[in-house]
Amino acid sequence: MASYKELPRTAQIRLVSSHQEVYEPCDDSFALVDALLADRSNLLEHHPSLCIEIGCGSGYVITSLALILGQEGYGVNYFATDINPHAVEVTRKTMEAHGVGAELVVTDIAAGLEERLAGLVDVMVVNPPYVPTPEDEVGVEGITSSWAGGENGRSVIDKILPVADRLLSEKGWLYMVTLTANNPSEICQQMRKKGYGSKIVVQRSTEEESLHIIKFWRDFDNGKDEANQSASGFIGSLLTHIPLFSFWRGTNSDNKC
Ligand SMILES: C[S@@+](CC[C@H](N)C(=O)[O-])C[C@H]1O[C@@H](n2cnc3c(N)ncnc32)[C@H](O)[C@@H]1O
Repeated sequence: MASYKELPRTAQIRLVSSHQEVYEPCDDSFALVDALLADRSNLLEHHPSLCIEIGCGSGYVITSLALILGQEGYGVNYFATDINPHAVEVTRKTMEAHGVGAELVVTDIAAGLEERLAGLVDVMVVNPPYVPTPEDEVGVEGITSSWAGGENGRSVIDKILPVADRLLSEKGWLYMVTLTANNPSEICQQMRKKGYGSKIVVQRSTEEESLHIIKFWRDFDNGKDEANQSASGFIGSLLTHIPLFSFWRGTNSDNKC
């Protein structure tokens, strides 16, 4: 059995900074980090040079990614963006408290970085605002923008996907949180049309919501001509991946919301 010291490190809640207008790490944040942990050996073999988080909030996820990559990640460049300036400041403190760092930018998704980072991002992580809300709540100042996702919770997600396509390198991977209401299979089909493969790395159900952490990669083997396969067939192939890494994390009191 692996000793405590051998377990990969993730951000410690007691070292995660906070602010009343910044999203605290919650079930969706933990599920995203669990997906990264579940895929850790692949991530280490992947040898990413540049990693980015869109919508970093408290910094829990990008800090955990930096810790998961650890020593092997020496020389990796980290970026994190958030539309909320308080979130960027909180992320800075969280990363400093863990002895890691990133270039932090207050911006809408990756505006201002796209030219510089186009085709260079090897790992992108996103826990977007995905809750279905009235459209006028999307992107408003403060903490509401953490969850307000507009119609079907897709407004921000649908803006992030083309940005991800422009930023990801040829070997780039995107890990993204989605809710059932976001129609994840349709998101996967949309990405398939752009030439991406996808699988669910972690699936979590609570009384309130069902979260899927989906991994996307450029799939050079499966041509875009397969993109128009039926939705039901596609969902079937997607669901075969669900049990692989699904597990609850409820035993760690650090991880309570
Ligand atoms: C659900 S929270 C996730 C926070 C953190 N990544 C986590 O997992 O705990 C979504 C984050 O996205 C940010 N956000 C919302 N719209 C954005 C946009 N258009 N561009 C950049 N960040 C955005 C919010 O301010 C918030 O910090």
